[in-house]
Amino acid sequence: AQVNEENLAPRAPVVTIMGHVDHGKTTLLDYLRKTNVTEGEAGGITQHIGAYQARLDGRLITFLDTPGHAAFTEMRARGANVTDITVLVVAADDGVQPQTIEAINHAKSAGTPVIVAVNKIDKEGANPEQVMNQLMAYDLVPEEYGGSTIFVKISAKKGENIEQLLEMILLEADVLELQADPTVPARGSVIEARLDKGRGPVSTVLVQQGTLHVGDPVVVGNTYGRIRTMQNEKGVDLKEAKPATPVQITGLNEVPSAGDRFVVMADEKSARAAGEERAKRAREEVRNAGSVVTLD
Ligand code: GTP
Ligand code: NA
Ligand code: MG
Repeated sequence: AQVNEENLAPRAPVVTIMGHVDHGKTTLLDYLRKTNVTEGEAGGITQHIGAYQARLDGRLITFLDTPGHAAFTEMRARGANVTDITVLVVAADDGVQPQTIEAINHAKSAGTPVIVAVNKIDKEGANPEQVMNQLMAYDLVPEEYGGSTIFVKISAKKGENIEQLLEMILLEADVLELQADPTVPARGSVIEARLDKGRGPVSTVLVQQGTLHVGDPVVVGNTYGRIRTMQNEKGVDLKEAKPATPVQITGLNEVPSAGDRFVVMADEKSARAAGEERAKRAREEVRNAGSVVTLD
C-alpha cells in the first residue's frame, strides 16, 4: 500500500471554514452549496453529507462541513489531519473575537495555511481595515501590508467576492502542490457517521489516498465491512471515489467515530479480523480505565 512517486497525481484541496460565532461560516457554506458553483444544478436538492465539493473553472474544492471547533479538535486528537487550507471568517463589523484566536491557534498547530475571509462588508459599520490591522498581531499580515496572508473581503449573504475567494483557495492549493496516488488501496478519514434506521451505519468519509470502490473490504476504526453503497453529496450513486473526494458509504458493521481512519484490506476476512481485534483492544482500554477509577 506504499504510495508510488510515479503515480502521484494532483488532487483537490480540502478546506475547513472556521471563525467566531455568528461571523458567517454557515452563510458562506450555504451560499456555496446553493449556487451554481456546484456543477451547475441550481435549485437542486443537496443532501447533507458533511462535506461537499465546489467547482471553479473545472477545478474542484472540497469543503468539510464540520466547522465546529470541537469537531476539529476531536478529529485532530484522533490523528486525522484532513485539512489543507483553513478559511478564517471574521465579521468586518465585529472584528477579532475569542474564537477567531482559537481558530488561528488550531490552524497553526495543524500547520495549515490560513486565508482570511473578511465577511459582512455589506453592513453599515463594516471596517475591514480594522480586521486586517488586528490580525497582524497574530502573524496574519495582508499582502498589501507586505505580508503573505491572503485576505478577501466578502459578503456571504450577498455572494459578493465569493468567486474571488474560491480563486484564492485554488491559488493557495497550487502553492501546496497537493498530490495523491490514486492507484493504491484506498485510505482516508471519517468526517461524520450515524445510524440510519433503514440503511444501518452511514458514514461520510474523505478518501485521502487511493481509489475507493463499491465492494471494497474496509476496516474503519474499530468497525469493518464491505462498501455496499457509495454516494456523493447529491445522492448520486458512485462506483469509485478518487483522492480528496468525500463520499457517503454504507456496509459497515457498526457506526465509526469522526476522525477514525479507514483502510481498504485485501479481503473481507482480514478486514473483519482487524476490526474485531481493534474493537477488542478498545473494550480492554475502557475496562482498564474503569479499574483505575475503582482503585482510586
Ligand atoms: P455559528 O455557527 O453560530 O458560529 O455562526 P456562523 O458563523 O455560522 O454565522 P451564521 O452564518 O449563522 O451568520 C450569523 C448571522 O450573520 C446571520 O443572521 C446571517 O444572516 C448574518 N450574516 C452572515 N453573513 C453575512 C453577510 O455577509 N452580511 C450580512 N449583512 N449578514 C451576514
Ligand atoms: Na450563528
Ligand atoms: Mg454556523
